Amino acid sequence: MTDNIDSILHEDRVFPPPAGFVKTAHIGGQAALQALRKQADTDYEGFWAAQARAHLTWHKPFTQVLDSRKAPHYQWFSDGLINISHNCLDRHLATRGDKTAIIFEGEPGDTRRITYAELHREVCRFANVLKKMGIAKGDRVVIYMPMVPEAVVAMQACARIGAIHSVVFGGFSVESLKDRIEDAGARLLITADGGHRGGKIVELKATADKALAVGCKSIENVIVLERSKNTIAFNTQRDHWWHDAIKGVSEHCAPVWVESEHPLFLLYTSGSTGKPKGIQHSSAGYLLGAVTTMQWVFDIHDQDIFWCTADVGWITGHTYVAYGPLATGATVMMYEGAPVIPHGGRFWEICQKHAVTIFYTAPTAIRALMKLGDEIPNKFDLSKLRLLGTVGEPINPEAWMWYHRVIGKERCPIVDTWWQTETGAHMIAPIPGAVATKPGSCTLPLPGIAMDVVDNSGNSITEPEQGGFLVTRKPWPHMLRTVWGDEERYRKTYWGEFGGKYYIAGDSARRDKDGYFWIMGRIDDVIKVSGHRLGTMEIESALVAHPRVAEAAVVGRPDDIKGEAIFAFVVLRGVRPKGGVDAALTKELRQWVTEQIGPIARPDDIRYSDNLPKTRSGKIMRRLLRSIASGQPITQDTSTLENEAILDQLQGKV
Ligand code: WTA
Repeated sequence: MTDNIDSILHEDRVFPPPAGFVKTAHIGGQAALQALRKQADTDYEGFWAAQARAHLTWHKPFTQVLDSRKAPHYQWFSDGLINISHNCLDRHLATRGDKTAIIFEGEPGDTRRITYAELHREVCRFANVLKKMGIAKGDRVVIYMPMVPEAVVAMQACARIGAIHSVVFGGFSVESLKDRIEDAGARLLITADGGHRGGKIVELKATADKALAVGCKSIENVIVLERSKNTIAFNTQRDHWWHDAIKGVSEHCAPVWVESEHPLFLLYTSGSTGKPKGIQHSSAGYLLGAVTTMQWVFDIHDQDIFWCTADVGWITGHTYVAYGPLATGATVMMYEGAPVIPHGGRFWEICQKHAVTIFYTAPTAIRALMKLGDEIPNKFDLSKLRLLGTVGEPINPEAWMWYHRVIGKERCPIVDTWWQTETGAHMIAPIPGAVATKPGSCTLPLPGIAMDVVDNSGNSITEPEQGGFLVTRKPWPHMLRTVWGDEERYRKTYWGEFGGKYYIAGDSARRDKDGYFWIMGRIDDVIKVSGHRLGTMEIESALVAHPRVAEAAVVGRPDDIKGEAIFAFVVLRGVRPKGGVDAALTKELRQWVTEQIGPIARPDDIRYSDNLPKTRSGKIMRRLLRSIASGQPITQDTSTLENEAILDQLQGKV
């Protein structure tokens, strides 16, 4: 058991669901929730089968519910046939064709509204473009785009023809893009000239060109959306403007019916090793998770304007921008840019302007906006908001209370949702019309989700306030299916302990006396920087790829706004700079990591030493480095250190 399992947080405030909210909620009150839980507990498969029949539109109904024969490759609804884009678009046309599907606002202030009928046409047209480029069911398509509606069009178009998309976050750079394209073996890349972010243009096409120049041999064509109108290089053999490609193309495209288990997408995420893993999701099970949680946790109603601020490059942007809202026929808000451009009230201004009713963001954004003071949000009319949410990292009670008081005006429940790229949708979260909330707790597992906290031997920890490993005891429909091309890694990472009985989340958690879950953090070498999931090993590999770096160890240190900041300990080839300081090299290394992985992985601090602290068996003492990085006194036993003298160097004393 690792050291971060000691529980330190104590929080006693409880906020019951507001009466007005309960009245109109899909699950209003304890009785309704208990009835649902009872169904799930007494007949687990029957419960999920009923959900799948009620919430999804099937081309061929399933008869098989859960198939565990190839465990841990669990299959759900496997003899059914379905199409995800049909579920997100076609099935709404008769009743909601003229309803706004997407409200878009660009960072420069341009806005667009797209109805379900229009979105359906654009998706069909673009699906035909994909077909013209030779893309068929099972082919991989990489999408590297800004937060614009066309990113959703591209994803939905892939789903329509059974192509597997892999969205790469626009903040990733050359190496990250190249690795993902190559691992997925993608035939097509969809990108844009650039996107607006933070008052600048993110030059996506230029980065893509660099990635394609050094590898990515599987890419045959590149489709380029014109968004920011910056000058780009254009290879007429390979590149096609989006607006040219769709000219004269039919807006009719029959959905390709796929098996429930057909992969809808891959999404690469960081783990404990240097290489990101391609998390593979299914079609039907995944969408079921998106729809049920839109109903249960976001309590989505027809008149809601739903805004999840996550980029489509992350799982949150997949489930709660591109799929969940559309599958439930909701109106989804999409904003391209940064929260503070051109002013610190941009998020609140958007809420006011577009009458947002449900707002979902990351604790890091809440903390950053809280720092700017109450006057800014107080200038805007936030009276339409009725529900708030957070995701991605633990939220500190102070930020929770600010969100509750200043944004929610003590009227809106807050849903703190725990889940992961791997889980596909929310797993532990309050059902806002039934579950009382506590600042800093994601509360209770959802119906049909068997979460537990276990000790080293895999036994459930029943005593309150005792930390342990967060696990899931039963397979669930929206779980990951495998790691793309790496079966072994799937088994080892997620099912490798406790005799393969549980899914291991990689987080530590504790429960309080009411059974509420409190997430304590990762137990592996994954850090969360501004809510972005990064592997310390990935950053280390990038650093070591620099000609002057011999060795590197990266850890997270607490940061008021970002949650965690990146601290790199570096051993150089040749002599250590005098006093451990070399500002020019530090600048160069930070830039280097930015180019290799992306600005989100740029180390905040770099410290040079002659060696890294290692045990006699050669393992880097990360725990020690974490203490040093956070400026805490060293309490660890350092007697096993090969070279105790470097402690002063690591602490920046010499
Ligand atoms: C962390 C994001 C505390 C956790 C959807 C998890 C959270 C990792 C919460 C997954 C939360 C996510 N409270 N921690 N509400 N939500 N996490 O794959 O450590 O980017 O394992 O998915 O984020 O990050 P990922």
